[in-house]
Amino acid sequence: MQQRTIGDRQVSAIGLGGMPMSIEGRPGEERSIATVHAALDAGVTLIDTADAYHRDANEVGHNESLIAKALKEYGSGADDVLVATKGGHLRPGDGSWTKDGRPEYLKEAAKASAQRLGVEAIGLYQFHRPDPQVPYADSIGAIRDLLDEGVIRLAGISNASVAQIDEANEILGGRLASVQNQFSPRFRSSEGELEHCAKIGVAFLPWSPLGGIKSAPELGSRHEVFNEVANELGVSVYQVTLAWHLALAPVVVPIPGASRPESIRDSAGAAELKLTGDLVARLSAA
Ligand SMILES: NC(=O)c1ccc[n+]([C@@H]2O[C@H](COP(=O)([O-])OP(=O)(O)OC[C@H]3O[C@@H](n4cnc5c(N)ncnc54)[C@H](OP(=O)(O)O)[C@@H]3O)[C@@H](O)[C@H]2O)c1
Repeated sequence: MQQRTIGDRQVSAIGLGGMPMSIEGRPGEERSIATVHAALDAGVTLIDTADAYHRDANEVGHNESLIAKALKEYGSGADDVLVATKGGHLRPGDGSWTKDGRPEYLKEAAKASAQRLGVEAIGLYQFHRPDPQVPYADSIGAIRDLLDEGVIRLAGISNASVAQIDEANEILGGRLASVQNQFSPRFRSSEGELEHCAKIGVAFLPWSPLGGIKSAPELGSRHEVFNEVANELGVSVYQVTLAWHLALAPVVVPIPGASRPESIRDSAGAAELKLTGDLVARLSAA
């Protein structure tokens, strides 16, 4: 599969988002593990997760533990997979999302994530979402300490503005490896952050690249031009959408979520789908 770069790591151009396998509506464990294995069979070497991908408050880290189990069962073929997790966003268990960006909390959360993932150092650790109660510099200072102490190998941020990207990169001494923001045909508000990442050479991981778990089934009906192009090329609207993401900049690495093996198998095919400049312009203008 086509490769892209995150920090000093080469990863598949299409990653796998773990959220649909752990939040409300998730499938049974067997199907989730089959989904992760289908991703690996297709050449996917980037898996995105978070300690907050769980349903009830008593199962924090559900998705991290699931991914760790699936990788272990796959064996040595999974050795080169980069698992990217996150901390700083919490789910108290009533369906809501809260934030905790305190340095002492983030440091403990990262160590707990490493333990669940069964690794000495986390491949890529992302500060999930800025906490308005805590100065951004303090939260990122904790991420820098984790990097310096070897608890994490690469540092990323998520849900960040251009100013926060620059601030984080400065605090990290130029070692910011990735930015994960919402971006899809439907939600394009992070276009400025995507362009900024392309300019400074930092990986950009669009989250909910297909519009999100609830909207993904309507991708073709909501976005007529994406559907038209898919029909013209004889591929799924999901492949066209992900190939469009990839065409926007060489730093883009989409992480489509999946809870079925068929979904990630199809999505992985987008890495080999080359869109002409005209098609990319037509999709971007849609
Ligand atoms: N940093 C953040 O704040 C943040 C926020 C949200 C999400 N994320 C990350 O981003 C990842 C992706 O976002 P997301 O999961 O919310 O939404 P998404 O990737 O836009 O959509 C996921 C849904 O699309 C369906 N799908 C994927 N590929 C398909 C295909 N080829 N054909 C048909 N259906 C397909 C899947 O269906 P099935 O379930 O039926 O397979 C899945 O439920 C998450 O999993 C998570 O890792 C991060």
